[in-house]
Amino acid sequence: MLSGKEGRATKKCMEILVALGEIYGAERLVRVSSVQVSGVSYKNLGDAGIEFLRELAEDGRARVKSTLNPAGMDLVNWRFQGIGEDFARKQLEVIDAYEKLGLETSCTCTPYLAGNEPHFAEHIAWSESSAVVYANSVLGARTNREGGPSALAASLTGRTPLYGYHLDENRLPNVVVNVGARLKSAEDFSAMGYFVGKVVKNGVPHFIGIKGAGLEELKALSAALASSGGVAMFHIEGVTPEAKGGVSGIETTSFTGRDLREARAGLNDSGDPDFISVGCPHCSLEELAKISGLLRGRKVKREFWICCSRAVKRQSDERGYSRRIEASGAKFALDTCMVVAPIESMGYEVVATNSAKACHYLRNNGLKVRFWPLRRCVLEATKAN
Ligand code: F3S
Repeated sequence: MLSGKEGRATKKCMEILVALGEIYGAERLVRVSSVQVSGVSYKNLGDAGIEFLRELAEDGRARVKSTLNPAGMDLVNWRFQGIGEDFARKQLEVIDAYEKLGLETSCTCTPYLAGNEPHFAEHIAWSESSAVVYANSVLGARTNREGGPSALAASLTGRTPLYGYHLDENRLPNVVVNVGARLKSAEDFSAMGYFVGKVVKNGVPHFIGIKGAGLEELKALSAALASSGGVAMFHIEGVTPEAKGGVSGIETTSFTGRDLREARAGLNDSGDPDFISVGCPHCSLEELAKISGLLRGRKVKREFWICCSRAVKRQSDERGYSRRIEASGAKFALDTCMVVAPIESMGYEVVATNSAKACHYLRNNGLKVRFWPLRRCVLEATKAN
């Protein structure tokens, strides 16, 4: 591949992987079974990104199952979202280039809910940080926090350098987090992840004292840990597959009820939201069921986006949840989310969401944020501002 015998795109990709491997001291490459590529929104890629993808698409093709992260708009209903024509044209050019490269354009940050679900101990190359944490911690698959280009290079070669979280020794915990706070919702896990991510930075936290956690809690925790810190993996005693009991001899920290209150307060600015969105990371079917129940017989009075993958939306259609959600006037935002869509240039100023990760990035985009539980986000959306 490196010699160029398999084409120019493959050669370029292998050069990226070899350079990475040399930087991190990898002894060799390893085959990957699944890839997830970030860097899909035109807002982040720009024209230079489109050019790069088009060049690769001249003779490069995905060799393994490869899916995409959310794009800057719903690929079908973008007008409904208020996206401008110029942005839409460029975004569709990006998608077109990825399609030519053979990647599946299921644009979601929860690929594990949409048909890209690797098994325990499989080597993969994913780049959406929340999905990386979920894959390593909950699924027990093995991936580093790839950048968009290195994940794409893994897709076109079917390989990644063997270092970091692909190796047993780097998957062990290096800080114990004693959880004293009573966690009652996915939002509490999100707030805790945001707090702990700041403390442990790029460590591997091992949580003790958590009674149980379902998909929604684990998804929220994964996203938050990866946004305030550089976490790629965590363990929860009794919950995640690689967590061993009796961890000792490493640093210990705690997360108390007071920390939880502080974390929540720190994620709230002032102001009445003119935009409300849930689904960061993209909603599960369970969350759509809950939202649908809350919206029964109600009408939405503010811009309200529910972000999820097309795959989960299809399941929601079959169960009748979507019909009730759409009847309320709420908008499904498929293929995209409140952070990667250009909502700051659409005149919105204050966003309410139930995700600490979304709060973090929306602030970076110059917006004010309110961190509310899912129920409050939905019910406030039915009141005028
Ligand atoms: Fe997904 Fe967007 Fe959040 S990509 S994890 S919904 S910031």
